[in-house]
Amino acid sequence: AEVVIVSSADDAGALVADEIVRLISRTPDAVLGLATGSTPLPVYRALAPRLAGIDVSRVRGFALDEYVGIDPGHPESYRNVIAREVIEPLGLDPARVRVPDGSLEGIEHAGDDYERALHDAGGVDLQILGIGTDGHIGFNEPGSSFASLTRVKTLTEQTRDDNARFFDTVDQVPRHCITQGLGTILRARHLVLLAFGEGKADAVAGAVEGPVTASLPGSAIQLHPHATVIVDEAAARALR
Ligand code: F6R
Repeated sequence: AEVVIVSSADDAGALVADEIVRLISRTPDAVLGLATGSTPLPVYRALAPRLAGIDVSRVRGFALDEYVGIDPGHPESYRNVIAREVIEPLGLDPARVRVPDGSLEGIEHAGDDYERALHDAGGVDLQILGIGTDGHIGFNEPGSSFASLTRVKTLTEQTRDDNARFFDTVDQVPRHCITQGLGTILRARHLVLLAFGEGKADAVAGAVEGPVTASLPGSAIQLHPHATVIVDEAAARALR
């Protein structure tokens, strides 16, 4: 992967936002792969003013993942996060942005439905990725197959602890998720993995320089012909 070290998350946001503007200008029906969590927020914030005057009515989006069984009205359901942080500020057409369906009814076919929708859209042009402190991308926790497609997974305790900040208590963090697989993510035409802060340094080093192993799912990006890793100095600290 190409590694870019920036001095701040805002600088990373600006870089990625510029790339997305170029993509949409050349491909008005571009398919964006959307991450949630804290990491991509500077991208979405930088993108909103840059899209003023650009027709985004045909842009499509696919989120990486969703909690299973979360109340759809919960502010931290990824459906709501994507609406609040992406669809509304960027002015995207809500009908053209999908999030995996984490509701319990129909969960057996939600993964297949999502794969079909991704396929029908022609695949993701640019996939934004964060990385978990345990090395997950999407919610592909350690041990995930590199061939995996969208499916239900169990969150690790580490991920539930990390995400407890979005909930009142850690007990409220759902135990299961539905996530694009590593195989799904690797099909995107361009991967852009972002990481900020020293808490991500080991995961970043493992993903970029470590052995390609299911124990560190982010290392799957080494198999991708066009992966860009954008990190601040703290997250780059363990790189050689
Ligand atoms: C979110 C996702 C996760 C996060 C990762 C880092 O859609 O798929 O892989 O990117 O957990 O989370 P933050 O950015 O909150 O540190």
